[in-house]
Amino acid sequence: MRIEKTLQSRIGDMDFDNISFGNQYSDHMFCSEYKNGEWKNSVIKPFGNIVFSPICPVFHYGQAVFEGMKAYKDKNEEVFFFRPKENFKRINKSAIRLEMPPIPKDIFINGLRELIEIDKNWIPKNYGQSLYIRPFLIAKDGVLSARPSQDYMFIIISTPADAYYKRPLKIKIEEKYSRSAIGGVGFTKAAGNYASSFYPTRLANEEGFDQILWTDSSTHTMIEESGTMNVFFWLKNKLLTPKANDNILSGITCDSIISLAKKLGFHVEKRGLSVSEIVKGLKTGELKEAFGCGTAAVINYFKMISYKGDNFFLPDIPEKKRISVFLKKELLNIQHNLSEDPFGWRVKLKNFS
Ligand SMILES: Cc1ncc(COP(=O)(O)O)c(C=O)c1O
Repeated sequence: MRIEKTLQSRIGDMDFDNISFGNQYSDHMFCSEYKNGEWKNSVIKPFGNIVFSPICPVFHYGQAVFEGMKAYKDKNEEVFFFRPKENFKRINKSAIRLEMPPIPKDIFINGLRELIEIDKNWIPKNYGQSLYIRPFLIAKDGVLSARPSQDYMFIIISTPADAYYKRPLKIKIEEKYSRSAIGGVGFTKAAGNYASSFYPTRLANEEGFDQILWTDSSTHTMIEESGTMNVFFWLKNKLLTPKANDNILSGITCDSIISLAKKLGFHVEKRGLSVSEIVKGLKTGELKEAFGCGTAAVINYFKMISYKGDNFFLPDIPEKKRISVFLKKELLNIQHNLSEDPFGWRVKLKNFS
């Protein structure tokens, strides 16, 4: 791997007391090219624009997949990734479904480790803060035909992320639009999944909702996920989450919460969850909490869920009594090396191989 370090770091311009997600990127990026069936030209170089031909398939056919992951610092400024190999597995699952070449393990791991080692000063230090890392793979050959590209580029960039204190969310159960369908690409992080959700999300925002709670595309009777989060419901003393299928992205945070909650003694069920079961719980008051989870938010709880024009407010439980807030803290403590990690999720930057 070639390493071209920047001659002028931009870190002096970074206001770590006022982090605005996605506005500033670390000094370097990692790039590796796939051409003629081979991966080559791996390089870490200064973050900057890249020139692509206007006929790259990524612009026309959306042949692109990505990941979202984080690096955290502990009190001694030791750097940790959280379950990075899960992101490696998932980007290749996405790549295969989009007929793209899987990224070799050594390219993903060495590129990520070296990049974050070089840019580790960009990782904010406080509890809940992190460096958000975005690996992505795009199609870039120079033929306009609607067929899979021959050439690809794998890139990793990163941006400092603040602790996520978004207000509790108002959610709308969606009955018209769909995010994905059986046999489709909902289980991948294909770029187009996000583009197609922007319009219905804007409509929901205009109606006063923060996010959509997606339901299955054929019947709109089964709960799927919300925005870029998987969802959990605390119903009749059980923590329920929909079973992943072709439609749902298998979240690493969701999987971690399931293991963590079970270890902490909660009864957890991952199964088909119908809209009627959730709406009944809202009506009877048996649904005490609902929340979304994902790399960005870790956990963000819902205050209202709307269905067919009826707005159901969840019980107004103080934060210190909320299961969602408790689980978030437990997970963040593992991520920041403040508690035991019986699962082996934390990976020290320098040991990542
Ligand atoms: C559609 C969707 N669902 C769920 C998630 C949560 O996944 P994870 O916990 O791996 O970030 C994400 C974020 O990656 C997402 O984009």
